[in-house]
Amino acid sequence: MKYKKGHLYIEKVSADRIARQFGTPSYVYSYNKIKNNIINFKKNFKSINPLICFSVKSNSNLKILSLVNKFGLGADVVSKGELLKALKAKIKPEKIVFSGVGKTIDELKFAVSKKILLINAESENEIIEIEKIAKKNKKKINIGIRFNPDTDAKTLNKISTGKKGNKFGLTTKNFLELIKKYKNSRFVNIICLSVHIGSQITSNAPYNNMIRAVNKIIQLSKYNFKFIDLGGGMGIQYEKSSNKLNYLKYNKIINSFLKRNNSKIIFEPGRSIVGDAGYLISKITYIKKTNSKNFVIIDAAMNDLIRPALYGAKHRIIPSKLSRKKISKKHEFVGPICETTDKFLTVNRYQKINQKDIIIICDVGAYGMVLSSNYNLRPKPAEILVNKNSAKIITKRQNLNKII
Ligand code: LLP
Repeated sequence: MKYKKGHLYIEKVSADRIARQFGTPSYVYSYNKIKNNIINFKKNFKSINPLICFSVKSNSNLKILSLVNKFGLGADVVSKGELLKALKAKIKPEKIVFSGVGKTIDELKFAVSKKILLINAESENEIIEIEKIAKKNKKKINIGIRFNPDTDAKTLNKISTGKKGNKFGLTTKNFLELIKKYKNSRFVNIICLSVHIGSQITSNAPYNNMIRAVNKIIQLSKYNFKFIDLGGGMGIQYEKSSNKLNYLKYNKIINSFLKRNNSKIIFEPGRSIVGDAGYLISKITYIKKTNSKNFVIIDAAMNDLIRPALYGAKHRIIPSKLSRKKISKKHEFVGPICETTDKFLTVNRYQKINQKDIIIICDVGAYGMVLSSNYNLRPKPAEILVNKNSAKIITKRQNLNKII
């Protein structure tokens, strides 16, 4: 994404053209950004040769999943729906892992019937259900067990998952008990230890602590795990000035871990693959000027992108056309929904903008469209994939008649 002669381009297509051609609000993804993110991820972790399972929950668009498959990634799924879609995108079952605390029996049966690589179990109840399915099918099922390392991910509280009080995984005591109890099971084959401490992690320290805890529990369990699934969570730079996770450092930590443990590493990245490759293009409906600030009322809302309302997340908002004129007044970018939290960003100064101008909300490729809803009976936006100078619709805008 860059400005050429004052106009914003996503690859070789201008944001204004996309708005004209496909309407607003629309999600736009850059094919080459996703491709480069994957290449970069692989390059940084080359020496540990991991199995990279794209976290489908971050973006489950079929075209994006096909693309991710094309560049060699597997999938991390958390529901039957995600598993079906990953398979539809032709991701091989032997590259699919199934996570989540509440998989239903129907979901477990389906996963077993599709012969996926492994199911990451999160409770004894779940293992018991998997054993029943195995007994019925007369086969041994490969599972992982998720460990809760009680590690602070140092990210937003609402997206932390690896602390003792979180619902995810098993504490040291429970984990060790389950290994002991099920290591010789005739029905389940424990092949993996999995962890995931949170999302949008931007420093190496939490991963360091996580690996230390994993190392310790492996020693205590005296068990040889074929796979260690380290989850995802790698953060991106929502603001240019923010911290950036150092992949190479993380790679180094894992490398020294592997010197003591002979396992294959699995990663489940979502945001780091697609987050900064997505843009939400929106049009300014009105500008309401008050004494203290200008409300910039846009045609995208919290139903299209809920991260700011839900987590207080900040996404940069940039204009499609640059202007030299700057206005030193507070600008509050808001949506049309009847909720005070339908607010995207407040800035102290902004360039001159007008009604009908196009603005772009940045870094929305992950947890954007997947979290959209029909709140206020608004149709979900279209999704567009840009590759060099081509821009193609990959999901049509929802038809209003259909939703009413
Ligand atoms: N693996 C597991 C078990 C997970 O729970 C998650 C994300 C991932 C992998 C992928 O994490 P990533 O690499 O994308 O950080 N809606 C929130 C994020 C929720 C993350 C949930 N779990 C947001 O918009 O920030």
